[in-house]
Amino acid sequence: MGSLPIMLTGDRPTGCLHLGHYVGSLANRLLMQSNYDSFIMIADCQAMTDHYDHPEMIQQHILSVAKDYLAVGLSPQHCTFFVQSHIPQLFELTIFFMNLVSVSRLERNPTIKQEIQQKGMEQSVPAGFLCYPVSQAADIALFKAKYIPVGDDQLPILEQTNEITRRFNRLYRTEIFEDCEPVLSTEGRLVGIDGKAKASKSLNNAIFLSDSPEILKQKVMSMYTDPNHLRVSDPGQVEGNAVFAYLDAFYSDKEHLKELKKHYAQGGLGDMVLKKLLLQVLSDFLDPIAQKRAALKDEEVLEILDYGSQVARRRAAITIEQVRSAMGLGRRSANLC
Ligand code: TRP
Repeated sequence: MGSLPIMLTGDRPTGCLHLGHYVGSLANRLLMQSNYDSFIMIADCQAMTDHYDHPEMIQQHILSVAKDYLAVGLSPQHCTFFVQSHIPQLFELTIFFMNLVSVSRLERNPTIKQEIQQKGMEQSVPAGFLCYPVSQAADIALFKAKYIPVGDDQLPILEQTNEITRRFNRLYRTEIFEDCEPVLSTEGRLVGIDGKAKASKSLNNAIFLSDSPEILKQKVMSMYTDPNHLRVSDPGQVEGNAVFAYLDAFYSDKEHLKELKKHYAQGGLGDMVLKKLLLQVLSDFLDPIAQKRAALKDEEVLEILDYGSQVARRRAAITIEQVRSAMGLGRRSANLC
């Protein structure tokens, strides 16, 4: 704490976390957690921007996402885990930031544009949804986070964050905010088990960290390979083959993997052999996570979130006073902690 560089990231609690989250961001968080002042946020309010009709679903997934964090090895010894809606200062800063960005700039954000299309919101975009990048800028700025481990789909949002904080600094002649930067996965984005570009809950093509061994087996066995690899003796395509993509991400014996790719491309290596290997690799990866998860008590997890949210509010209170003072708004008598 204190002198360590600040890392912050978060997830929307709309479902359990999956291997795509692991490759895209959780793996980096694990590497970073002990060397950074680490904040990990469950973004329930952001999840509300497109699931406002199912608050109970979001409430329920706060616990499952927190369990995923802990099961995977993120530790409260290193990280401050908190819930977005438990930090009132975030909303205050969001409101201040809202004046520093135009509606047309928000509409041009490629991530938002794509999501609006995917969710069929073209006719009527909730203002909250359009503005979630502003609230995400507040998430980052309030904690003065510099390093943000995220998937590459979040890059336009981080860019917009820097635009907003720079504008704030310029306008109010202050230097309280610094630019943030993404920490991207070296593995790139994990494909779905159907071979589609992205593993995602909504596409129903992801392997969850909490999948049972039976489900894992079903998913691995149904994985997309090379549709033209009909006989074992046929040469197979490694590129675009989901089984190889998952082996690339999770199999540590890179020499063996290289040989397997060569063999597959030449012909004579069956999909089933590869799938069995992948099943073994993923079971070895997921079994300890499942064990840790099973040992977690709901009460204990909720306490970790309560404690983290309290710590986060204390930090937030410091920044918000600096913000108010830079803006000339003066101190508030009520102490929000
Ligand atoms: N937008 C992120 C996602 O959908 C979640 C998120 C909210 C976030 N606030 C954040 C990520 C701040 C990084 C930093 O996964």
